[in-house]
Amino acid sequence: MITQRLTAQDTQAAAAILKRGGLLGIPTETVYGLGASGLDPEAVAHIFAAKGRPQDNPLILHVPSADWLERYCEDIPAAAYALAEKFWPGPLTMILRRKPIVPDAVTAGLDTVGMRCPNHPVTRAIIAAAGVPVAAPSGNTSGRPSPTSAADMLEDMDGKIDGIVDGGPCTVGVESTIIDLTLTPPRLLRPGGVTLEQLQDALGEVAVDQAVTRLMGKDEHPRAPGMKYRHYAPKAPVTVVKGPADRTAAYIRDHLGPKSGVICFDEFAGDFPGHLVETMGPAGDKEEQARRVFDALRYFDSTDAAEIWSQCPDDGGIGLAVSNRLNKAAGFHIVDLNETT
Ligand code: TXA
Ligand code: MG
Repeated sequence: MITQRLTAQDTQAAAAILKRGGLLGIPTETVYGLGASGLDPEAVAHIFAAKGRPQDNPLILHVPSADWLERYCEDIPAAAYALAEKFWPGPLTMILRRKPIVPDAVTAGLDTVGMRCPNHPVTRAIIAAAGVPVAAPSGNTSGRPSPTSAADMLEDMDGKIDGIVDGGPCTVGVESTIIDLTLTPPRLLRPGGVTLEQLQDALGEVAVDQAVTRLMGKDEHPRAPGMKYRHYAPKAPVTVVKGPADRTAAYIRDHLGPKSGVICFDEFAGDFPGHLVETMGPAGDKEEQARRVFDALRYFDSTDAAEIWSQCPDDGGIGLAVSNRLNKAAGFHIVDLNETT
């Protein structure tokens, strides 16, 4: 199929693709999504096919405002409205109990559904015009880094989707924070643009799912099924080195092989002569690192790097999301210099 290139002005054409059961690339503030009508099981099945996504990995529903929650969810706790008030539209997905109207194809048969109101005016207008919630995973082929521009998404999806709306580069750059509000205390399933500290401020105690910080075994079932898959992985194996930036740079320099590539903070770009280097922003600017981390990982797939070494921010603020994505890309292959003296 030919993938139609749409602009921010083409709201009606984009909504028409959703209404007729087609696949549409949509911009959001986090990453580009691969959208289809969330009430149309056949359209949703096409999402899984286009991505090569495992069937047991549920999709989240995108809505234009919190008013739509009652249409698809029941037993909605007060915390959901409090979080929506504070963080919607924005990079937060809430897991809530679903109503029967939500197809099994979306939830992979779970009795819960992920709900998100993205902070992108174009996409909110398209969803409102289509009049249906939009089921949308990240717009990458399963296993690859998530796309943060229309061009990145076309790399994976050109010819496999009906259209894509170019809404510019993503301003957050990592996928939404996921919080499960059906558990007590609420549990963080995936770190993202809304930070753990912000959630704790709003809710009090918040648990952190084990899948955020460690590799899950084959027989383990994380609460967010998607967290068990190797993710974001470039073709070359990745090693993440944690600790103070000057020490991690020195450690990486000492361990480079002839075909090693490096992902580093801007200040260290000149420290690895003769090697492929991708920077991900200043050491002190975690927001910029979040915007650039997926691009940095993607870059090495067009090179002959045999292995990749990466610096990594600490876990404070959005640093938890950046380090989670790097750790997952590395299959949790981590050297922690904080643990040595
Ligand atoms: O920022 C985002 O969330 C992007 C943009 C497009 O909105 N979407 C996104 O979707 O990252 P996806 O499918 O790539 O990741 C959704 C994650 C998966 O790990 C999935 O397992 C989990 O959410 N998930 C979805 N529904 C769930 C549910 N009912 N319970 C637990 N986890 C769920
Ligand atoms: Mg994804």
